[in-house]
Amino acid sequence: EALKSEISKAEANTKEELEAYRMRFISKKSVIGDLFSAMKEIPNDQKREFGQLVNSVKQLAEEKFKELIETVNAKTQKAKSSDIDLTLPPTNVEVGGIHPLTATKQRIIEIFERIGFNLSEGPEIEDDWHNFTALNFPENHPAREMQDTFFIEKNPDIALRTHTSSVQVRVMENQKPPIRTLSPGRVFRNEAISARAHCIFHQVEGLYVDENVGFADLKQTLYHFAKEMFGKETKVRFRPSYFPFTEPSAEIDISCLLCKGKGCNICKGTGWVEIGGAGMVDPNVLENCGIDNQKYTGFAFGMGIERIAMLKYQIKDLRLFTENDIRFLKQFKPLL
Ligand code: PHE
Repeated sequence: EALKSEISKAEANTKEELEAYRMRFISKKSVIGDLFSAMKEIPNDQKREFGQLVNSVKQLAEEKFKELIETVNAKTQKAKSSDIDLTLPPTNVEVGGIHPLTATKQRIIEIFERIGFNLSEGPEIEDDWHNFTALNFPENHPAREMQDTFFIEKNPDIALRTHTSSVQVRVMENQKPPIRTLSPGRVFRNEAISARAHCIFHQVEGLYVDENVGFADLKQTLYHFAKEMFGKETKVRFRPSYFPFTEPSAEIDISCLLCKGKGCNICKGTGWVEIGGAGMVDPNVLENCGIDNQKYTGFAFGMGIERIAMLKYQIKDLRLFTENDIRFLKQFKPLL
């Protein structure tokens, strides 16, 4: 009876107190354990009664033990959660940054969306029609060799697209003018990798088709873009060029922001950096895509996103974009 009342009164608030209780009442060496060991000294006629008594004490002790475990668990958990100060600043949490190419692409999209361009996309694996034929590259014409193509299949030709101009075709085939669209994406060319060139790079294509679209609209659009992207003092230069899908065609140069005309390895000392090509959409291309070339005219441009990012962030080697060197990428964290 004395043991029973001791058990009922027992308390435990900590793990240590719980262990003390276990040692006293539950373990083999506990008082109850001793009572079981004492069984053999009890005369046979009293064994039954003694046994029942000890068993009832044991049961009580075990029930109480379960209760105490729960109280102690509840108490220690409470203590734990109140130990945590959720308002403290975290230590050693590395926050990622936006990749400079992504940031550049986003900025380009922003500038053109504001002047009414929407976004469109096309596949990276393209057929001959969308990458070449519809764009007025004549069959077996050397112009096809202008862009060293990675072919996946021959006859019919399937290739990694060499430019985002393939998206122009897809948009014109599926939409009616007025069309004002911007198509950013990855392109692939079998070129040797250097500080200025890579076999995988990014372009952004622009296309505007409507009645009375002229070369002046193209120039003004690209002037606007250059000033928004690089600042008011930026100069733009158009050099006559050739693309099968535009007539007339031009190459777009931006005044070199890296050396400000003093000469550096990006502009090769000329003070100008080429960022892409442009021109008036060739009437044959409009016709190939089912657009009335008597009624509509259009302009198109294609620019290299790496080139633009290099100018914007003064990066002298475009291999840095894909090497994933954390020391390089970390510098763009403020763009987050
Ligand atoms: N697709 C051309 C290239 O990759 C660029 C371009 C686009 C030129 C649109 C004119 C018009 O070189």
